[in-house]
Order: sequence, then structure tokens, then C-alpha cells
Amino acid sequence: MDAMARTWSPESWRELPAAQQPDWGDPGALDLALKELRNQPPLVFAGEARALKAALGAASRGEAFVLQAGECAESFDNLSADSIRDQLKIILQIAVVLTYASGLPIVKVGRIAGQFAKPRSSANELVGGLELPAFRGHMVNDIDFDAASRRPNPKRLLRAYHQSASTLNLLRAFTKGGFADLNQVHMWNQEFVAGSPQGRRYEDIASAIDRALRFMAACGINLTSDVSLHQVDFYTCHEALILGFEEALTRQDSLTGDWYDCSAHLLWAGERTRQAGGAHIEFLSGLKNPVACKLGPKATPAEVLELCERLDPDGEAGRLTFITRMGAKAVREALPPLVRAIRDSGRPVLWVCDPMHGNTFEAASGHKTRRFDDVLDEVKGFFEVHHGLGTHPGGIHVELTGDDVTECVGGGDEIFVDDLHQRYETACDPRLNRSQSLDLAFLVAEMYRGQ
Ligand code: PEP
Ligand code: CO
Repeated sequence: MDAMARTWSPESWRELPAAQQPDWGDPGALDLALKELRNQPPLVFAGEARALKAALGAASRGEAFVLQAGECAESFDNLSADSIRDQLKIILQIAVVLTYASGLPIVKVGRIAGQFAKPRSSANELVGGLELPAFRGHMVNDIDFDAASRRPNPKRLLRAYHQSASTLNLLRAFTKGGFADLNQVHMWNQEFVAGSPQGRRYEDIASAIDRALRFMAACGINLTSDVSLHQVDFYTCHEALILGFEEALTRQDSLTGDWYDCSAHLLWAGERTRQAGGAHIEFLSGLKNPVACKLGPKATPAEVLELCERLDPDGEAGRLTFITRMGAKAVREALPPLVRAIRDSGRPVLWVCDPMHGNTFEAASGHKTRRFDDVLDEVKGFFEVHHGLGTHPGGIHVELTGDDVTECVGGGDEIFVDDLHQRYETACDPRLNRSQSLDLAFLVAEMYRGQ
């Protein structure tokens, strides 16, 4: 059946080829897990997804800037209050720097509370003559290289749901309970600036923010009680990869009758699952959530226009985000034809730059890594392309952690290739560490100020 003629339902994706789905083995166990998931309460609410859509719409018009950030893959082995707090803390710190530099509200969307499934370039992994299924994220199997760990287990779908619920619960408490207070976040940034040689390069920006806060206080704005300075809106997102899980959390909104995937506010299709005629795009097409799609350097203008037609036929602002991940070397050539095609079509798409996934390489030590300078250069290229075409660079999408890991090379407090083994903890792709993340924030801020 022609995709356009199909009647959408939460399960209509089942009629189409679905890439990157695990072989669960036991269909009875899978059905049982999905049934139990369908009986669980939603993780997020339709009204929140609508609020995010409005905020993304503003970003598509250049009236806000999006910071989408978090883990490449969340882990079942790491559900501590401290790690959730540190992840939120670094995102808030970056957001304050970007708010000041851009003069725009920053829409904060975490790759958190649901980012448990990974697409893989090969279904199997071969080590020393032994071939086992690839690790697909803790929602599916475990990372250890033995047959029992790598066997997909549907019970993990439920565990992912419960870990997402606990994580969201703490995030809601932190973001509404005073932890996100602007003064406090600014103080953390000042500690970074004063406490390290690489931080000192950003003294100008930090003291300008300080003056802005004092100016506000002098004007009579109560910096400790004003709700907008004391609380933040924080949204969640993840790649909608395991479609059975996403379907089970898709619920009809009682207010509007519309369908929302209540596993997160925003869902995206990855570079490997964005076929216009495939199951993932079919699934996303009928949701009312804001949705996104990754675009790599091989994407063509025709494909991108077709994705718009499938995902946002009505041209609704904030509905569709393209997250481009071209690589630093390709961004200046590969991005303009796509942006130009969308600009000329008049569609209200939001453009976000993922400077991570096009810049991964394997170091001699075998570690998957990224160079900080490539990450920065892709962001620069993204800004240049949009400024050249008169379109809005709407946001950045980064993989980071609040911990001092050694997974990406470079940065002000330089990590060398030989350091990678020291604290390489990611369950999937290499993340910017705390200091590299702040470095990126301040450098993007300088880019804004210098434009
Ligand atoms: C990811 O975001 O972790 C990912 C796998 O991205 P992409 O689909 O762009 O490769
Ligand atoms: Co990743």
C-alpha cells in the first residue's frame, strides 16, 4: 500500500520494514512485556509535548535556541542521584552561557530518561573468533561480550521504562525545586572560570553575565524569588528506535483525541532508520509530539523534502526538526543544498547541529573517539552555512557528561589520545566531559558575540 494512503495507528508501522530491531527470540516473552508496558502510566504528558512544540517553533523563527544534550546511551548500571544531578547541572551551565551570548531563551532538551536503545552498523560483533549479537543499548541487551549478556531480553523494556520514570521524577524535582536557580548556575560557571587555567579565558563573558545579574537586581527584579529565574522547563528526548516500546507508550490525549508517544517529549529517527517508506518514519508520522530526524552527509534534497511531506505535511511550526550530522570536513558542502531546498519550499523546519556523530574515529588504542576541534569546527560550519543562506541556526545537539571522563580528545584541559584509557566509561559513543562541555559553551558564545 502507498504510504500516504495507509491509515495511521500506533501499530501501522508493523506493515513496513523496520530496520535495527532486535531478534527477541521468544515472542511470548516480548508480548508479555509489551502488554505490561501498555498498562503503565505515561512518562510525559501531551500538554508538555505541546509546550515543547511551541518552543521549537520559536526556535525555527530565530526567537529561541535549542540545546539538546545528554548521554549517547544511558545505562542500567548508572542510576544514581548524583549522576542525574551532574548531567542536569552541566546542561544548565551551558544554557546560561548560551542565553547570555545569544540573547535568546534556550530550549533545554535532555537525551535522558529514555535514551536506552542504539542503532548499530553491524548486527553482530566478532571478537577472537566468537560472533555474538551487537550491543543495542540496555533496553535490549547487555554490553559484556558473552552469549547470555548479548541475548536480547524483553524484560529490559520494562526496566528501561522504570528507570526513565525514576530519572524523570528526580529531574522534575530538581528543575522546579530550586536547583536550577540562575544565581546558583552562574556561580558554578564562575567556579569553572576561576578554578582552571582553561576557564580563565572566559573571564570576560562570566563577568559580563555577573554585571547583567547585578543590573537586574538593581532594577528591582528579585533574583531569588522570581519563578522564571528559579525554575526551568526541561524536556526529554530519545531516538525512537525500538518501535514496540514506543507503540506501547503511545496514548490518546483525552483533551484533543490526538496520539502522543508519552515515553518522551520529543522523539527522533536516526540516520540509519530515516527511510521515508520505513517503519520508523511511519510511526513518527502519526504522533502529535514534536519529532526530529537525523541527516548525514549523504542525504539529498529530494529525500529531505519527502521527509517533510511524511512528517510535517501541514507545515506546523515546531513539529519537525532536522538534526544535521555532516562531519566537520563535509558540513560546508553537504549542508547548503539541503537548507536551500527547505528554505525555498517555505517550510518552517528547525535546524539543529549535531557535531558529534559525523566526527567519530577509532584511535590506535581501539577507542572510539572524537576531536574537540572537529566538534567545534562543525558548529562553526553550521553557523556559517545558515548565515550565508539567511536561515536560522536553531540549536546544537551534543553528547556529554558531567563527569571528568577521557573519551574525546582535545579541549582546553587537553585530553591526548594516550589518555583515553584513563576514564573511558561510555556505553556507546564518546562524550564531551565536564570541562570540554563548558569549553564548547563558551566558544559557541564567542562565535555568537563575534558574528
Ligand atoms: C545517536 O544520536 O547516538 C546516533 C546513533 O546518531 P545517528 O543516528 O546520527 O548516527
Ligand atoms: Co551517539
